[in-house]
Amino acid sequence: MPAEKKPMTKEMYLKQLEQFGSVIDRAQNDILRLGYHLQPPVGWLNDPNGLCQIGNDYHIYFQYSPFNAEGGNGLWGHMTSQDLLHFQEHEPAVYPDCAWDQHGAYSGSAYEEDGIYYVFYTGNVKYTDKKYDYTTAGREQNVILITSRDGYNFTEKELLMTNDDFPEDMSKHVRDPQVIRRNGRYYMLLGARTLSDKGCVLLYESDDLRRWEYKLRFTTENPFGYMWECPNYAEINGQGFLIACPQGLPSQGLDYANTYQCGSFKLDYTFGETDYQIGEFRELDRGFDFYAPQIFQDRQGRTLLIGWMGMPDSGYDNAPTLKNGWQHCLTIPRELYLTKEGHPAQRPIRELETIRGMGHEEHFTNTFSQNVSPLFDMELAFEKCESFTLRIRENALLSYDGDVLLLDISQCGRGRTTRGVRLQDIRNIRILSDSSTLELFINDGEEVFTTRIYDSMTGLSCEMKDAEARGTVTWYELCP
Ligand code: FRU
Repeated sequence: MPAEKKPMTKEMYLKQLEQFGSVIDRAQNDILRLGYHLQPPVGWLNDPNGLCQIGNDYHIYFQYSPFNAEGGNGLWGHMTSQDLLHFQEHEPAVYPDCAWDQHGAYSGSAYEEDGIYYVFYTGNVKYTDKKYDYTTAGREQNVILITSRDGYNFTEKELLMTNDDFPEDMSKHVRDPQVIRRNGRYYMLLGARTLSDKGCVLLYESDDLRRWEYKLRFTTENPFGYMWECPNYAEINGQGFLIACPQGLPSQGLDYANTYQCGSFKLDYTFGETDYQIGEFRELDRGFDFYAPQIFQDRQGRTLLIGWMGMPDSGYDNAPTLKNGWQHCLTIPRELYLTKEGHPAQRPIRELETIRGMGHEEHFTNTFSQNVSPLFDMELAFEKCESFTLRIRENALLSYDGDVLLLDISQCGRGRTTRGVRLQDIRNIRILSDSSTLELFINDGEEVFTTRIYDSMTGLSCEMKDAEARGTVTWYELCP
């Protein structure tokens, strides 16, 4: 069973890091570095992992491949933050250095009890023999546990489950554990693909966090994609939701436009029972770059979501950062809340207000125009909105014709073109812009568009034209 990629120990990482100084400098000096988003020090980043708060520090781990900006070795990078806008870098927390995770310490999450952080993740192993298809054979996805009291020092890896512990009709794709406690017992969710290519989430039960018993699977009656990655169970105002990333959904008009999806199912389930009700799937984000979010509760009781601002196998790229030795970032953290209609919606964390410069407010009728710096926070509150075209920064166009809201970044998207949503009315829009990112929150975050954007970053403005609209626009330069 020879290795396809080499495992990476801490010693190997430190040695390679020493020889990587000039690439790190280039990455860190790139003008496309972000002002208030978490980005890799160098190399590649994907999913956020192990989100938790210890004392005053948020700990954010992430899938990290420092020496290859196009992906590869799955380490767990590690940063801390007190405001989720400024980040301090630490040495990686997990290395793919043992037989159970030698081709990637894949995604996982943290569960806290009595000051101990139990971190569960997937150890990925791929056999090299090319005859394997990696779906039904030739790979292992192991559930591994490490624990910590401080978020920096972890215990030895413990192997909790292997593919043999998953139901017989499962393919080799079973991963991304999330653990919660309900009704006196522990529950683990795992994203999975069956042998007949049906996406689902496996639920395991335990009394001691170490021995796990299969309980049931959450899935839809009709197949909804072949694989569901990165499951999260979240309760918002007492309503349960299963948040997952289905792969293999064909796009339907404006819906499911990305290669892979991410959204929520309303889930009515009393943990421990055998029946559940699963509702309709709702996309969490309509932009080009949003995937694999993780949800956790902080000490203020907020339900926070942080996503990966990226999309696997997308056909568009980030060549401008890639050429400087880094790729991808995480989204602005968002607080989840429930709309009047009972749907999950997202609002950017209120900490953003602490980095706002002076605000300028303007009442507009039909048009307005404003010069902006690349880092800004803009709020549009409509009194009337029948139609408009809003040019954002240099060449991103957001338009509304009374029916469809369309984001067109063909001019500055590196292959990203248009994404849209049907909307009966538009009450407000919040635009967060960082050097090379845009996040649009429509109608108090009922719909969200997240994307990377590559324009000249100079001479930027926002301009509303062709509008049948009236309202107030407020903009702030962000000064992180
Ligand atoms: C989602 C994902 C996870 C996996 C991780 C590996 O982006 O594919 O399912 O654990 O990335 O980096």
